Amino acid sequence: MTQDEMKIEVAKAALKYVVPNSIIGVGTGSTANFFIDELATIKERIKGAVASSVATANRLEDHGINVLDLNDVEEISVYIDGADESDKHLNLIKGGGGALTREKIVAAVSNQFVCIADESKLVSVLGAFPLPIEVIPMSTSYVKRQIVKTIGGSPILREGFTTDNGNLILDIHNLKIEDPKRLENQLNNVVGVVTNGLFAGRSADILLLGTANGVKTIKL
Ligand code: A5P
Repeated sequence: MTQDEMKIEVAKAALKYVVPNSIIGVGTGSTANFFIDELATIKERIKGAVASSVATANRLEDHGINVLDLNDVEEISVYIDGADESDKHLNLIKGGGGALTREKIVAAVSNQFVCIADESKLVSVLGAFPLPIEVIPMSTSYVKRQIVKTIGGSPILREGFTTDNGNLILDIHNLKIEDPKRLENQLNNVVGVVTNGLFAGRSADILLLGTANGVKTIKL
C-alpha cells in the first residue's frame, strides 16, 4: 500500500467520528485534504466546518461545504487533522504546512481531536521532524538567538514562506523532545513566538493510523 493509499484509508475511517448535525473543525495538509474529499460525500449531515487555513477553507468551499468563521461558533464537536509526528501518548508535532497557529486554535475549541496519519508519522521520540515555530517578523533574529541559548537545536527560517497570519516560520532542527509539554510552554514564553508546533497541552484524543494491515485506532 502506498503512503497516499494509507492516508485515504484513514480519511475514510475518520468519517465515523463526524458528529451529525454539528460543526466540525478541519485541519490542513495532504491527509486533511483527503478527508475533505471524503467529507464532501456526507456534507448534508453537518451544519458546517471551521477551517484551520485559507487553503482548507478554499477546498471545503470548492466541495460546497459551508465554511464558518470561528467567532460565529460556540462549539466544535470534533477536529480532524493530520500531523507530522505523533508519539504513543498522542503528543504531536504539527505545522509542516505552516498552519500551526490556526490549527492549535481550532483544536483548542473542539471537544475531541481525531488525528489522521499514515504509519510513518508514529515515532518513539518527537523531534526528527523539524519543529515549526510561528514568529512575528521583527522578532525573528531575537527568537533564533534565544532558542539557541536556552533550548538548543538549530532554528532555520523557512525561506519564502508567510503564514496566513502574515508571520514567519522558524523550523528547529536537531531536537530530541523528551518532555513535549515542558518544551511547548518554554517556547511559548519566548517573546515574539506566536505559537509552536507542539501539540502536547492539547494533544490528540484519538490517532487513526494507516498501516499496511489496515487502520489502527490508538486512544488515550
Ligand atoms: C499543517 O500545518 C500541518 O500541521 C499538517 O497537519 C501536517 O503537516 C501533516 O501534513 P500531511 O498530512 O500533508 O502529512
